[in-house]
Amino acid sequence: MVEMMADRLTDAWARTDRIFEMLAPDSWLAQPIALRHPFIFYLGHLPAFAWNHVGRALLERPSFDAAFDDLFSRGIDPDVDDPSRCHDHPDVPNRWPAVEQVIAYRDRVRGSLLDAVDAVAARAPTHLMARDSRVFAMVIEHELMHQETLLYLLQRLPLEQKVRPTWLPGYAMAPGRPAGKIEIPAGPATIGARFDDLPFGWDNEFPAVQAAVPAFRIDGTPVTNGQYLAFVEDGGYRRAELWGDEDWLWRGHEAMEHPVVWELLDGRWRYRAMFDQLPLESVAGWPVYVSLAEARAFARWRGERLPTEAEFHRAAFCQPDGGQLAGALHVLPWGEATPADRRGNVGFRHWAPTPVGSHPEAASAWGVQDLIGDGWEWTSTVFTGLPGFTTYIPGYEGYSADFFDGKHYVLKGGSWATADELIRPSFRNWFQAHYPYAFTKFRCVSWP
Ligand code: AVJ
Ligand code: FE
Repeated sequence: MVEMMADRLTDAWARTDRIFEMLAPDSWLAQPIALRHPFIFYLGHLPAFAWNHVGRALLERPSFDAAFDDLFSRGIDPDVDDPSRCHDHPDVPNRWPAVEQVIAYRDRVRGSLLDAVDAVAARAPTHLMARDSRVFAMVIEHELMHQETLLYLLQRLPLEQKVRPTWLPGYAMAPGRPAGKIEIPAGPATIGARFDDLPFGWDNEFPAVQAAVPAFRIDGTPVTNGQYLAFVEDGGYRRAELWGDEDWLWRGHEAMEHPVVWELLDGRWRYRAMFDQLPLESVAGWPVYVSLAEARAFARWRGERLPTEAEFHRAAFCQPDGGQLAGALHVLPWGEATPADRRGNVGFRHWAPTPVGSHPEAASAWGVQDLIGDGWEWTSTVFTGLPGFTTYIPGYEGYSADFFDGKHYVLKGGSWATADELIRPSFRNWFQAHYPYAFTKFRCVSWP
């Protein structure tokens, strides 16, 4: 147990370090997304989160840098439409500490965590978060989620402020195989999981809830850059009638004319990939990355809509015979214990999207493809607690509940930058409808 947890921690840290190496040395204070902190915050946040939960809350050990524990305890997620509104978080300092100091803090925390595995196990009889090393699973999942945050921040950073790693795989640039609609008959779907069925899950994943889902027709693959270009060229960003009122206000305020990863240069569409600017045609088969506002305008343009969370579950995890792939860890649409290369584009296999329809072997029981991988999928479901929701993590009551504000929506699946450990049916991601920066794609549903 001790060795296994130590390996899982060091593996997670090694990937974090590789990601930070993609940042040019002088760019720690760069803040490519105004709604998020600069990179230096995340360098301190990952160890501070781990220390606050393992060292401070669970083991009640004295801090070796209480100021850093607090400064780096929590990030920000201001309301896009009113940035003065945000959940509770520490004040932003006038000056961030020196990188060397933050690295020293990180390394001290890392050492103390490796030493704490046995002490945590000893608290299992009295502390829920110590049972089955839940607190370590939480710390690791938190680190993995922020690897994705860091990568979509890096995606927004100018190329001069990044260092391309030598090991980066090449882009997969085939045209892709967009599929038509697939009909899913009416039937049940289970959202969430039973607490005891997962070695670890976040508060918003519990309990398991049954939904009765009417029949619907869903895209067999997510919407591609090529398909989305037709919407842009048809004046999609200029037609108020396609946008909800608030979405239209936001679009105007941000002067959005196209997805944020696209650029129009000398009359030609370009695509800003992580380390390259590519002709849009070369990635026409990749799923388009957009906000929920843009996704639902596109759907309206097509006379369609986005799927609900329950519809996504039914399309992804339910079987025609009525069964469902349950809450077990690392279960994917096509079943348990499949080889890694049949999982779709998750877990840093490509470090970029792949053309839609590239993973037919990973289709769901209904033949719906790419539900997991390449990008998280937007749903029309407002993020809120499942019926019976409780905040079970001591000292972290706001992990999900702070975002039950009607402005955040559920996303399902995972992206190329989502670690394998986070890929499970019950995992729920969430962003504001007006957040266009994450690796977020969508597909449409036609009215029943
Ligand atoms: C689940 C990805 C929406 O990054 O805002 C990390 C995860 N929460 N630290 C986020 C999270 C606190 C969260 N998401
Ligand atoms: Fe965090």
